[in-house]
Amino acid sequence: MDNTQFYFIETFGCQMNVHDSEKIAGMLRDLGYVETKDKNNADIIVFNTCCIRETAESKIMAKIGDLKALKARNKNLITVICGCMTQQRGMAELLKKRFPFLSIVIGTHNLDRLEEYIVSYKKQKKFQNIVWDKEQEITENQKIYRDSTNHAFVNIMYGCNNFCSYCIVPYVRGRERSRSVDEIVKEVKSLAQQNRYSEIVLLGQNVNSYGQDFKDGVTNFVYLLDKLCKIQGDFKISFMSSHPKDFSSELVDFIASHQKMSRAIHLPVQSGSSRILKLMNRRYTAEAYKSLVDDMYAKISGLSLTTDIIVGFPGETEDDFLQTCDLVKYCKFSSIFGFVYSKRNGTPAAKFENQVPYKVKKDRITRLFALEHQLQKEELLSMVGKTFDCIAEINDKGFLVAKTENHKSIKIVNGNKSICGEKCKVKVKALDEKELLGEVLK
Ligand code: SAH
Ligand code: SF4
Ligand code: F3S
Repeated sequence: MDNTQFYFIETFGCQMNVHDSEKIAGMLRDLGYVETKDKNNADIIVFNTCCIRETAESKIMAKIGDLKALKARNKNLITVICGCMTQQRGMAELLKKRFPFLSIVIGTHNLDRLEEYIVSYKKQKKFQNIVWDKEQEITENQKIYRDSTNHAFVNIMYGCNNFCSYCIVPYVRGRERSRSVDEIVKEVKSLAQQNRYSEIVLLGQNVNSYGQDFKDGVTNFVYLLDKLCKIQGDFKISFMSSHPKDFSSELVDFIASHQKMSRAIHLPVQSGSSRILKLMNRRYTAEAYKSLVDDMYAKISGLSLTTDIIVGFPGETEDDFLQTCDLVKYCKFSSIFGFVYSKRNGTPAAKFENQVPYKVKKDRITRLFALEHQLQKEELLSMVGKTFDCIAEINDKGFLVAKTENHKSIKIVNGNKSICGEKCKVKVKALDEKELLGEVLK
């Protein structure tokens, strides 16, 4: 009889979580499980959760509720809830009360031990609630099962010290802890040797403060990048996320002068009103952000800038919002991740007066996206008729596309998939709705 055991992981939230799920997959494979994309076939189901906004949390709660039926059909099913949501105070108890069928609830601080907890659950068949209050030491040499073929995630640091007034991350991910330069170099070297990844994505909540916790006066983000750029191999280095207050001119110069550094940079601004930025505890002004962006465009050729924006932060007036729209026009973002402010228990902003009514928030986000679409369309139209140096790849819908240096995607209409991974020159012929269509030049 075939007694293969299957795992199913569903990931919510940011890249940090996506990468954590690759570590979870590594641990489950080590235990002999094989992946299934169908929850109904699974012997173990893991939800790697996010609590950045209320919408994320309620969606996950509903999905956990759905597990009840699966557990009723298969009483040996193991269900695991981990990730940021569980790290909130009192959440593990609440989950167990609402969903008594759960097997394991585990926090972010001890996720690396999931493998042990599963083994012990299998022996004892008893609910395990293992959420630690304190961060554990960084675990090295983890078994990571990377899912992606184009890019590889590498943690360079964990946690956040910034305490932006709206944000729950510092409470659920703990304080900043940097991995050692040697360990990161070792990991990137081994990824480069595999020759599979065109991009190494360095992960941290605020990569610009990498190494500050070592207090050695030498280790910082640029120091690390310098070591990584010296590693042989045909790959680009990118990073997520960076905080504008710590984005040094040294870093701008470094990116500008190193070909290995990706030109796609995510630089969350959150608001274009200095008054709101102050209330958000972001510690920069809209003017400082704009002059940083000026410096980046002046020095980094092919720069493609993306950002995060929150609308409807407590006290945000129509005028504050219009300042955000002005900043958006000014910065020429290639894409914007816009969010409606969501009250998070335990954060300072949740107690601020002047919470903005939902209707107003909704109206502002709609206008922000409309502005983004208009600006994007203008930018794409300006590419028609021009030729770009690209790399051919298959996109998530299975189409052959060419990626320009600044991460624009052009659907190739005259090539075949055999050129995948190769460098090519592509002439943009037309813009179809939001899609650029182009031909590979022979
Ligand atoms: N460390 C990253 C952000 C992680 S959270 C950084 O600082 O860039 C990703 C994004 O979610 C944030 O940039 C912010 O725009 C948004 N966000 C965080 N808390 C939020 C809240 N309470 N309501 C709405 N959006 C929020
Ligand atoms: Fe949250 Fe701010 Fe830290 Fe980003 S920098 S994770 S927005 S507290
Ligand atoms: Fe969500 Fe945690 Fe990321 S709260 S956005 S998964 S750090």
